[in-house]
Amino acid sequence: MPSALEARIAPARRVTGRLRVPGDKSISHRYALLGALAQGVTTLTNYSPGADCRATLACLETLGAAITIGPDPGGEPFARRVTIVGRGLRGLQSPAGLLDAGNSGTTTRLLSGVLAAHPFAATITGDDSLRRRPMRRIIAPLTRMGARFESSDGCLPMTVTGGRLTPIDFTPDVPSAQVKSAVLLAGLQTEGCTTVHEPVPTRDHTELALSAFGVRVDRDGDAIRLEGLQALQAVETAIPGDVSSATFWAVAAAALPGSDLEIVDLGLNPSRTALFGILSRAGADVQVDVDRVAEGEPRGRVRVRHRGLRPLVLAPAEVPGVIDELPALAAMAACGGELHVTGAGELRVKESDRISALAAGFRAMGGEIEEFPDGFHVRGDRRLTGGRPDAVGDHRLAMAFAIAGLSATGVTIVGGAESVDVSYPGFFQTLATLTRAD
Ligand code: S3P
Repeated sequence: MPSALEARIAPARRVTGRLRVPGDKSISHRYALLGALAQGVTTLTNYSPGADCRATLACLETLGAAITIGPDPGGEPFARRVTIVGRGLRGLQSPAGLLDAGNSGTTTRLLSGVLAAHPFAATITGDDSLRRRPMRRIIAPLTRMGARFESSDGCLPMTVTGGRLTPIDFTPDVPSAQVKSAVLLAGLQTEGCTTVHEPVPTRDHTELALSAFGVRVDRDGDAIRLEGLQALQAVETAIPGDVSSATFWAVAAAALPGSDLEIVDLGLNPSRTALFGILSRAGADVQVDVDRVAEGEPRGRVRVRHRGLRPLVLAPAEVPGVIDELPALAAMAACGGELHVTGAGELRVKESDRISALAAGFRAMGGEIEEFPDGFHVRGDRRLTGGRPDAVGDHRLAMAFAIAGLSATGVTIVGGAESVDVSYPGFFQTLATLTRAD
């Protein structure tokens, strides 16, 4: 069944302009969770307006944290200002009802790490997509630490019964910042030294956020170590723009002749910016300038100009660095480029099975895409015709199909367009602004 809301995308010649994007989703979740465990009042400006980060706040409220959410007077209309009264380590309260994580895997996995050290039972559930996603990857290490889990065959609804934990030395089976973070958040509330090994590095926002709250975190080779029971001091900070949201505009600029786009106040953490090197490899003119570093997170501006599109091959080792950017890169390839990706089996357990849903969507637009168990190959030499791709409730697919639609010969109607609210409310309005020059 095609999903609820449709967005109509007309072909566009180019994208131009200068813009800000909403606050980073990964960083927003982490500061909200740590704020609830800190001492004092944490104030976050430019907090992500997406439904995922609202779900984290709603869960924390159900767990007894006092939170205010309002417009951010100094920011863009979409920006939110959030205050959280910290309850201290292991200070959350037994919830009166279910914790609804909505569509958010990050909420579920990171919150499980927090709950693992709390002496009560709490049940996390979510929407249809989230209830299909694998949770054994966090259940296994947190059970080793001493928490108890009841789940529906490794999926939500899942009840976590926490308590006093013992620290572990752990290497996740798949490179995952969410798994790493769940274990570090449990370790933070556990006496002794918790270690997570990362043979392939993933985004390090948890480590940086912990440091910002005054926790000492050590990195030694592939090991990340922290000594538990360090008190957190509340912070006041502005969340940088989300580079994974900016990606959609960057690939559009790389793909459409005559494009020239600048995105400012953007998070430029090196664990998230592999995309820009890949765009340069594809032929785009990409300029990345770090203006400053706050709380360990570099931020600045990126300018992307079209200079033609070359075929791209992504090696499996590159995948964790652009795991959320692959739908957008596929869209760029569909606009006259080419992209071969392998080693990306994780895409099948994201908000949707992103390999088969991308393939179905591009085919519905007249595109050519080959599907592998762990990747795909998009050929963009034949122009897309437009058509009716279905985002199957997945925010990044809705945005990817919209960007691909800009290069089509006809109109594209994206089904399930409301899903953009998960990370980027206002996406379609911004799209209209950036393509208006035509
Ligand atoms: C995220 C980590 C990634 C990413 C997700 C957000 C995070 O997931 O895909 O959108 O904030 O830690 P994995 O860690 O499971 O790869």
